Parts: sequence; C-alpha cells; structure tokens
Amino acid sequence: MARKIILDVDPGIDDALALTLALFDPRLEVVAVTAVAGNVSAEQATRNVQAIIEQLDPPRWPRLGAAVQPERDPLVDSRHVHGADGLGNADFPVAELHHQHPSDKVITDEIRKAPEAITIVALGPLTNIATVLRRDPGLAEQVGQLVIMGGTLRGPGNVTPAAEFNIYCDPAAAREVFRSRTTKTLVPLDITSQVMMTYDLLDQLPEESTRAGAFLRRVLPFSFRSHRQLFGLEGAHIHDAVALMALAEPGLFETERLAVDVEIQGELTMGATVFDRRSAPTWRPNIDVATSVDTGGVAAAVLRGIAQAGAA
Ligand code: RIB
Ligand code: CA
Repeated sequence: MARKIILDVDPGIDDALALTLALFDPRLEVVAVTAVAGNVSAEQATRNVQAIIEQLDPPRWPRLGAAVQPERDPLVDSRHVHGADGLGNADFPVAELHHQHPSDKVITDEIRKAPEAITIVALGPLTNIATVLRRDPGLAEQVGQLVIMGGTLRGPGNVTPAAEFNIYCDPAAAREVFRSRTTKTLVPLDITSQVMMTYDLLDQLPEESTRAGAFLRRVLPFSFRSHRQLFGLEGAHIHDAVALMALAEPGLFETERLAVDVEIQGELTMGATVFDRRSAPTWRPNIDVATSVDTGGVAAAVLRGIAQAGAA
C-alpha cells in the first residue's frame, strides 16, 4: 500500500527535484502538493507548483494548494540560488491558474479524510503547517508523520551564520510546529548538505523526449551555475530531495530523539534551532532528528528515482 503524502513546497529547484522523485515513486501516493512562500513569493510558488505538475503530468494528479501571501514582507528569498522564477528561469507557461483552495485548507481537508494516515513532507517555511495546527489544534495528533527539511543540528546556517533558510523565513511558525504534539522528523541542513548533485548527473538524466528528462534538463543547470558562482562549489545541493529520502529510504539515515526550540528574536540568532543536548537535559524531547546519512546511498537512490521518473 503506497504511503499517502502531502508535499508542502516553495519551488525552488531542489523542491522541484523532490517533487519529481515523489510523483513517480510507486511507494508514495502524493495526494496533494501545497505551495508556501519562501524561495519565491507566494504567487510565484503557487504558479511553480502548477507548472511542475503540468510539465511532469504524473499518472495521478495531486490536489494543489495555493500559498497565502504572508502578512509581513519576506526578510529574504532565494531567487539568486533558484532563478528569478524559482525554477532556473525556465519560464514555464502555466495554464490559467485554476481556482485553488489555500494550502492550509487543502492540508486540513486531506488529514480529516485520512486521520493518522497522511505524512506531510515540509520542504519550505512552516507557515502552512502552523496555520493548520493553529486553526485546529486537535489535528496535531491526526497527522501520521511530519517530515521537515530545516534547521541546523550543529550549524552553520545558510541564510545567516545561525539560521537555516526554511526556519529563518518564519521562525514563529517553526516554534509553533516544533512545540505541537505532531509526530515529527527533522532533516537538518548539516545532513542535507552532505549530498551534492555532481555535473555527471546532467549526462545521466532521462532523455529530452521524456517529461521528467525535459523538465529536469530545463531547471537543474541553473542550480549548478548558482552554486559555482555564489559558493564556489563544483556541484549543487539538493536539500529537499535528501529530506524526501529520509521518508522513502529511512534505512539510509540514523536519527536521535531530541528536544528542539527556535529562537524567534535575536539580532544575530533569529531562526536558529536550539537543541537541549546537555548532559542532564530538562527540555521534553519532541522530535526525531537525522544525525547521520549514507551519502552514497542517498545519491544512488536519487539517481534511481530520476530514472524511474523518466521511465514513466
Ligand atoms: O535551506 C534549504 C532549504 O531552503 C530548501 O528547502 C530550499 O529549497 C530552501 O527552501
Ligand atoms: Ca524548499
């Protein structure tokens, strides 16, 4: 029986790769893809989710959720890493945006339809998840599992020395989610940064004639260019694809039960994830955190997933 999942994303090239893997993985049933502002604006993230689904045309189209414009202007975005449109400036045409329910409503509906059977994979800021739990706190125990790409176990951050991007974008939402009774797994930046997409991957992508091959050949190259120009790296991080593998291939990760909270103020430390790892901790453990990863195994699993998407 395929595992029902909701992907909450702020596409973003690595979000798009994670979506490609999930949509064609027979072990997963993507019941919904919900957009959230982060790498790009709420409107652009919503557009990108629809564009990705239209380009990939998976066997079963998931429900789509529209990102809600945050009340405050974003402190940061990642268009320098992912392109002005968030998808490597591929500038995909999008059919007239169908009327879409807000992401939090879609998530709430799907959890209520299948209590304790839905896994949410949060690959962007936790704005939507916090809204869902705030509006109906009773849903916290109805979520089967919440897998989160975000935070740092030891650091450093990526958007500031102290904070990882997804948490930094909405630290109050992250605190609400971490303090909720939801069953949570965190895949921090320390772990996801250990896996790099290398240039030879570009030669191993499915043929241009396949939907997945054509899509990935349009969006991935920008990520290689931005990682070289911005960070001097000969390869590109795929944080969200690694986080998805923590769900699809859990045997490739080791986890530890820890207590975590989020700094929501702090001139220098806002968005930092703080873990109680004292010899005599007093904070209540509230999350399973990935503490090590089989990097070769994850890279191979990503390659298999890409090949599977191309063969669909
Ligand atoms: O810090 C990495 C995370 O921030 C990834 O999810 C990436 O897509 C951006 O959202
Ligand atoms: Ca993301």
